[in-house]
Amino acid sequence: MAAAIRIDALTKDYWVGFWRKRPYRALDTLSLEVQPGEVFGFLGPNGAGKTTTLKLLMQLIFPTSGQAEILGRPLGDVGARQRIGYLPENPSFYDYLTAEELLQYYARLFGYSGTDARRRTATLLDRVGIGAERRGQQLRKYSKGMVQRVGIAQALLNDPDVIFLDEPMSGLDPLGRRDVRALILELRDEGRTVFFSSHILADAEALCNRVAVVSGGRLAAEGRLSEILAFQARGWELVVADVRPEVLARLAPQIRRSTGIAAHRYALELPIESRPAAILSELVAAGATLVSLNPLRDTLEDFFVRRVAEMRDEAREGYGGNHRMSGAGAREGAQKDDEGHARD
Ligand SMILES: Nc1ncnc2c1ncn2[C@@H]1O[C@H](COP(=O)(O)OP(=O)(O)OP(=O)(O)O)[C@@H](O)[C@H]1O
Ligand SMILES: [Mg+2]
Repeated sequence: MAAAIRIDALTKDYWVGFWRKRPYRALDTLSLEVQPGEVFGFLGPNGAGKTTTLKLLMQLIFPTSGQAEILGRPLGDVGARQRIGYLPENPSFYDYLTAEELLQYYARLFGYSGTDARRRTATLLDRVGIGAERRGQQLRKYSKGMVQRVGIAQALLNDPDVIFLDEPMSGLDPLGRRDVRALILELRDEGRTVFFSSHILADAEALCNRVAVVSGGRLAAEGRLSEILAFQARGWELVVADVRPEVLARLAPQIRRSTGIAAHRYALELPIESRPAAILSELVAAGATLVSLNPLRDTLEDFFVRRVAEMRDEAREGYGGNHRMSGAGAREGAQKDDEGHARD
């Protein structure tokens, strides 16, 4: 079976500077494959190249080199494009239309009849949680989170097989995030492929089969989150309440560190090779209450910071100057371009 998405050495240089234009490598030979039916997390810090990759896949911009396929067809193939949905980063719509008008208009562009367009619009607005009472309101009166939901509905209008979502959770409150996560899992259960970008590890943990981490335009890691070394648990943090000190003293040999949070409430750090369930049962048998149990591992932020530092070292060790730039002036350009955008 063909991959749902295949990205092959995709590279994008932007031309930056005003008087003396020079290339700035926003994406550096990125290669990836996403299988049909996967929810794939495309993770990276600000400026990593996530939006650039999505725009290249949508042909909103064109690559300096490299290529990609969606559903086994080259980018731009009309048949494949009809089976794709896309939520841009920070979607903005003509905001004097109501959510209903906007979606119906788009649905008509996709070739749905008037009745079908109305039906699809209603179903999708239900699906993204915009209630009947808000649908007739102009989008300019919508909150950011609601516009984001309309954007998601728009991405699903043509009943796509492959859905690209650029930061789908951005601007949403915790309830909104939960709704969108649930929606993404529903889409997966319907057999669709979802490719979404995020800089939040928890989103990926809650959703993904696999992830790719990009940093500085390059692939920094790829695979199952649990298999990416940096994210493997290094231990456990067990928070318990109602613990008597003598119970804690008895368990001390099995605990790496214990920190008192409040009276009789402790955060216990357990080594990875320990059996947290067994320690927890002993504590509970002695009257303690479980507050939380979490694996201790690198956060995405730790990983980014380390990876960015490693990549800088690689560049210094003769990667042909700064890997994100080519040509002279690369190093000062890495700090700031002529338009004043801070780099890294
Ligand atoms: N039109 C452009 N001209 C010049 N540089 C650009 C342009 N668009 C993006 N860049 C630069 O390319 C790099 C990658 O940007 P991109 O928007 O792809 O990052 P991102 O991973 O989506 O970041 P964020 O999490 O902030 O959305 C950044 O350094 C950005 O400043
Ligand atoms: Mg972006």
